[in-house]
Amino acid sequence: MAKILVTGGTGYIGSHTVVELQKAGFEVIIVDNLSNSNIDVLNGIEKITGIRPVFENIDCVDYVALDRMFEKHPGIDAIIHFAASKAVGESVEKPLMYYRNNLTSLINLQQLMPIHKVKNFVFSSSCTVYGQPDELPVTENAPIKPALSPYGNTKQICEEIIQDTAHSNSFYRSIILRYFNPIGAHPSAEIGELPNGVPNNLLPFVTQTAIGLRKELKVFGSDYNTPDGTCIRDYINVVDLAKAHVIAVKRLLEEKAEKAVEIFNLGTGRGLSVLEIIKTFEKVNGVAVPHQFVGRREGDIEQVWADPTYANNVLGWKAEETVEDTLKSAWAWETKLAQQRAEKKSSEE
Ligand code: UD1
Repeated sequence: MAKILVTGGTGYIGSHTVVELQKAGFEVIIVDNLSNSNIDVLNGIEKITGIRPVFENIDCVDYVALDRMFEKHPGIDAIIHFAASKAVGESVEKPLMYYRNNLTSLINLQQLMPIHKVKNFVFSSSCTVYGQPDELPVTENAPIKPALSPYGNTKQICEEIIQDTAHSNSFYRSIILRYFNPIGAHPSAEIGELPNGVPNNLLPFVTQTAIGLRKELKVFGSDYNTPDGTCIRDYINVVDLAKAHVIAVKRLLEEKAEKAVEIFNLGTGRGLSVLEIIKTFEKVNGVAVPHQFVGRREGDIEQVWADPTYANNVLGWKAEETVEDTLKSAWAWETKLAQQRAEKKSSEE
């Protein structure tokens, strides 16, 4: 059984990926510093798969602790590196924290890989590297645009570090996955997105408004050059996204990668507007999402969606879930969180 290190494995995409890895028979070791996630996620993973993953509370910025972890768990075959700070607005306020966290973590792992004989690496990147593409849908060959935030810049620099490291040493094999907009939750509603404080991303704001935690959703901009005036994104189901990581790891382990570094877009190929998301969410879940239009959010891109042909044909992965089912899963998860809060409150009374 191959052993996979998942950094950031208690996070949103990380936890869904751990589930899919375990279901595919991989042994998983999670490294996470719980800076933006909760240890209870391990219970959710265990409920779904029947296996509790090994967990190490380590910050990937800490080289010595990571080194010890590799010694404690010899024989790691591949790393999936999710651990990173990811809030665009926060990155503008605290750029050094973003450069330090995101770049140092990656450099530490890349340095430790040859020492501990780990050859294979999967990296969590983002469609943010394309900025506002000149052509849609966007392929992997589209030019990288100047980053609009320190967060976006860290993703671009990390991709460059991976390329340079691979070119300097034939030891490494990497797959870079550029995610579009991951949404939804596991169909069991045992794991899902758990934003800290006020959510920045659209879907958690939608579900929290629908459940009554927030008064109303602000729709950022209604005067974009799109059919209904709101921004367009490629919303991808988080379990579909997680499955792509399992396929990527297998591709590396079976030595099927055609280059030292391969890059794949992970999206559906379909763009949906903010209003379409709100309307579909209301329809499939039978619940209202009070919202009002406000001004544009600084740094937002008007429209972007993926051309997933390369991932479909070469990686052999395709997004399968419908947006309707994905939005139902997001609502089921928010409802479950509300139930848990109510139970906790009544047990305290
Ligand atoms: C953002 C980042 C992206 C990053 C991702 C990580 C930018 C430009 N992009 O994606 O690089 O990888 O987060 O989480 O910041 N919206 C509202 N009201 C809200 C929240 C969002 O109208 O309360 C709209 C936004 O204007 C946007 C869409 O919903 O049009 C999606 O927003 P969001 O979920 O934040 O994702 P991105 O901005 O696409």
